[in-house]
Amino acid sequence: MRKGVQLFFGVLTSNAISLFGATLVTIAALFIVFFMLLSYLGHVNSPYLGILVFLILPTFFVIGLVLVPAGALWRRRQRRIHGDTDPELAAGFYPVLDFNRAKTRQMFTVVGILTLVNLFTVSLISYQGVVYSESPTFCGQVCHTVMEPEYTAYLNSPHSHVACVDCHIGPGASWFVKAKLSGLRQVIAVARKSYSTPIETPVHNLRPSEETCEECHWPKKFSGDSLRVHKHYLDDESNTPSYTVLLMHLGGGRSASKGIHSWHISEEKDTYYLASDEKRQKIDVVRVQEKGGALTEYRMSDTTLTGADIAAGEFRRMDCIDCHNRPTHIYKPPATLIDYAITDGSISKEIPFIRMKAVEEFTAAGNEFAPWTQVDEKIRAYYAENNPEVLETMKDKLDASLVTLERLYRQSVFPEMKVKWDTYPDNIGHTNSIGCFRCHDDSHASSDGKVISQDCNVCHTVLAWEEEAPEILNQLEVPQ
Ligand code: HEC
Ligand code: HEC
Ligand code: HEC
Ligand code: HEC
Ligand code: HEC
Repeated sequence: MRKGVQLFFGVLTSNAISLFGATLVTIAALFIVFFMLLSYLGHVNSPYLGILVFLILPTFFVIGLVLVPAGALWRRRQRRIHGDTDPELAAGFYPVLDFNRAKTRQMFTVVGILTLVNLFTVSLISYQGVVYSESPTFCGQVCHTVMEPEYTAYLNSPHSHVACVDCHIGPGASWFVKAKLSGLRQVIAVARKSYSTPIETPVHNLRPSEETCEECHWPKKFSGDSLRVHKHYLDDESNTPSYTVLLMHLGGGRSASKGIHSWHISEEKDTYYLASDEKRQKIDVVRVQEKGGALTEYRMSDTTLTGADIAAGEFRRMDCIDCHNRPTHIYKPPATLIDYAITDGSISKEIPFIRMKAVEEFTAAGNEFAPWTQVDEKIRAYYAENNPEVLETMKDKLDASLVTLERLYRQSVFPEMKVKWDTYPDNIGHTNSIGCFRCHDDSHASSDGKVISQDCNVCHTVLAWEEEAPEILNQLEVPQ
């Protein structure tokens, strides 16, 4: 063994290339260990560290590994060219492995052990590299500017602890490969700055929700009716609360119960649709295919598509994502964000007209992608002019409210990516974008005159609508 090590060092130092390779391997390995330790100890937490540790340093490591034998072979060739008559060189370019010679065996043991160690190291780093490339930190932070809107919205959503890959890739080898190829295209797009601003939606090759959402959510689960209390505030001096109370007919379960999930995710039928715009907001044709065979086709009354367009059209099978297209990249309109903040007290309800002024200036600045300071200045100027007392008696409350408003502004306006709260349509309701009413508009009709209903009680019962003190909340003893 000792002999083998000596021989091995002899080869390493016999030529500049091998020596350089060995140095490269050593330095790269030391740096990898050093940075891994630093990150495990929590001293550095940069998304770029992963690229260094799992991509750049391993590349040098492997190049170094290749250079060691390459250098030895080069040196062998040089010796032959320069007329070295060592009988070992007579066989040709490659050395002869004669295991009857002690020298070969000793050398082989050392090279064998080192190769095993290196294989182990390289596979460990590759595995860690794959884990890293699947982490939300990698997906959301490495191409920081590009992913900023999606990542910020994600961090503030109910799915902030679900990895990006659980929805965007899902389990299985073929999607893994597809995702890595698409990831490579994206990295190239970022490097060439050829990505679109904003990033386009919908994601056309998103995996069907059966294999992503339904890994966690169980569509057969019965949820029945679900009460939703929406607390808004009026644009008056005292920011008066106003309630909308809905009983959502969610349904679900195996029974033939009525309700949103009961109808839409039942196993008895599949719904397909043809949209005539990129964002799938204008739905011209809907087909409901019963498992028994019956097919009903609904067409939008003023569709511009011809029979030939429809015959050639690519229908999409409706799944969870056609309603829940914003389960995690959720951008709420300014009024909703401000209402939430007044409810949780982080914007003070005591400041006169704060709801009206905040919504107005937030919306105006956001629509121009103006910097936050504009909102701050305009709101302060408004009070200076109309109600200077606020600036004196409520200075702390106003300052704190503006800190909250700034946070909300930065979470919904992204000038670099040209993304704001209404860039991406939300399909779940019908108030912020057309949503359910893309089909449920009483105008999509079948040949026998059936329409997709807009009856206000099909999806929910509206128990109160913008009321200041709804009776129903008293009856249900909901604290207000
Ligand atoms: C709970 C599931 C889920 C998670 C987790 C998730 N996404 Fe998404 N993502 C979606 C859905 C659904 C869409 C919209 C698909 C559509 O409309 O076709 C989307 C769309 C996108 C888009 C396209 C632009 C847009 O906003 O529509 C980007 C970019 C994106 N996601 C990046 C990410 C990144 C980065 C992460 C992790 C930090 C992540 N996603 C985590 C479900 C998810
Ligand atoms: C890895 C598991 C996981 C995956 C995958 C997943 N979810 Fe969820 N989802 C959750 C958990 C956990 C919650 C509950 C979070 C909470 O209550 O804070 C949740 C909550 C929800 C909610 C209720 C949100 C709310 O405002 O209370 C909806 C709707 C939802 N998910 C839809 C989806 C859709 C659509 C997909 C696929 C694009 C999906 N989920 C993928 C785990 C998952
Ligand atoms: C036709 C549209 C539609 C489809 C398709 C759909 N949902 Fe929903 N889902 C809704 C609506 C509407 C709500 C209620 C939202 C609200 O009240 O804010 C909801 C609520 C939910 C909730 C929250 C339940 C609760 O008790 O609060 C989850 C989780 C959910 N859906 C998961 C799914 C999954 C998983 C799929 C696919 C198998 C799916 N949905 C398909 C429209 C749909
Ligand atoms: C792609 C078109 C399409 C979209 C989008 C759509 N639906 Fe539907 N929905 C249908 C069709 C078609 C029917 C069956 C109509 C019929 O036979 O009366 C239906 C039926 C329903 C029913 C059952 C009606 C009943 O009479 O029992 C409910 C509830 C429902 N949808 C809720 C929703 C909700 C909530 C949304 C939005 C989150 C939504 N739908 C979005 C196509 C759509
Ligand atoms: C196809 C299903 C469907 C139909 C039909 C429907 N809605 Fe809705 N509606 C929804 C959904 C889904 C939401 C969102 C619930 C949520 O965000 O919790 C909603 C939300 C609302 C809200 C609450 C808005 C807010 O933010 O406070 C009101 C008010 C409302 N609907 C009124 C109506 C009226 C009036 C009609 C009849 C013209 C109607 N809806 C028809 C599905 C429907």
